[in-house]
Amino acid sequence: MSDIKKEINTLLATFSEQLSEVETEQELEEIRITFLGRKGKLTELMGQMKKLPIEKKRELGPLLNGLKRNIEQQFAQKKKGLANAERKAESLRQQHFDVTAYKPGALKSSLHIYTQIIEQIEDIFISMGYGIADGPEAETDYYNFQALNIPADHPARDMQDTFWLNMPDMLLRTHTSPVQVREMEKRSAPIALIAPGRVYRHEATDASHDFMFSQVEGLLVDKNISMSHLLATAKTFLQKFFEKKDLDIRVRPGYFPFVEPGIEIDFSCAFCSSGCSICKKTGWIELMGAGLIHPNVLKYAKIDSEVYSGFAFGFGIERIAMIKHGINDIRLFHSSSIDFLKQF
Ligand code: PHE
Repeated sequence: MSDIKKEINTLLATFSEQLSEVETEQELEEIRITFLGRKGKLTELMGQMKKLPIEKKRELGPLLNGLKRNIEQQFAQKKKGLANAERKAESLRQQHFDVTAYKPGALKSSLHIYTQIIEQIEDIFISMGYGIADGPEAETDYYNFQALNIPADHPARDMQDTFWLNMPDMLLRTHTSPVQVREMEKRSAPIALIAPGRVYRHEATDASHDFMFSQVEGLLVDKNISMSHLLATAKTFLQKFFEKKDLDIRVRPGYFPFVEPGIEIDFSCAFCSSGCSICKKTGWIELMGAGLIHPNVLKYAKIDSEVYSGFAFGFGIERIAMIKHGINDIRLFHSSSIDFLKQF
């Protein structure tokens, strides 16, 4: 056998052997360069043939062409095989993709403290048979003041410095009480609902005051509703919220034009027995405004005050959260501070 014939055979054998070990596209490309490239083994062999006499060329030419075809075919087949394997592996990866797998180092997330507190409040009132209502934050003068028995010239309007909008008679609601009127208009008595939501006041901010905060409004309308229903409801709610069965409440007179009589409800400090910084050593914590719905408000909402009576209350969500968790600055709630948020 001539040298070239021998070389043809060896080349084919080494190519086949090396190709069988290829596992990646990268290795395949290396083999292509070694054997089929411009300075590759096959090109080199063809170069050698050029120097041979014509009869030899005739004999070896077809052999070399055959070799080239053979190598190219094997190469193409291997390439297809690799692509198929990659596709299979990918589909297997997708089939076994575990959406519940733990990703190390990922930040653990939680609901915002504000959302957690609202859910706790809602759960308690829902368990007492209350529904949940919602109202617009951009309100009219009518619902925020007039229908709540606060006429245009009433001094009570000075109690709440208001963000007026650039539209006639429109404002950012200063409390959640307008939802009382809207819901009484919409539904017929009996009604039992709470309405949590944002409110706005045009005032300087400090650790316990913000221009934007949240309240929960409570409203109950039925026949023969009296102050004792209001007090029992407030007490039950607070006992459940602070998980303290012996929590007590006390009542002071309060003035809100939409209730008569109006009261302020304080509760016995849930954190001490003899006075601490949360209750300012008094043993009592101030929390909510409340009262029996003023007959004028029932009239505005087209509910017959001869047949029905009701109570309403309102308190600050941030305030109750601050008391429960010992938070000392109301502005933290919308600060987006991760250090603050990740504690809850
Ligand atoms: N809306 C009152 C406030 O913002 C709270 C309140 C609600 C008082 C319902 C009485 C009845 O201070």
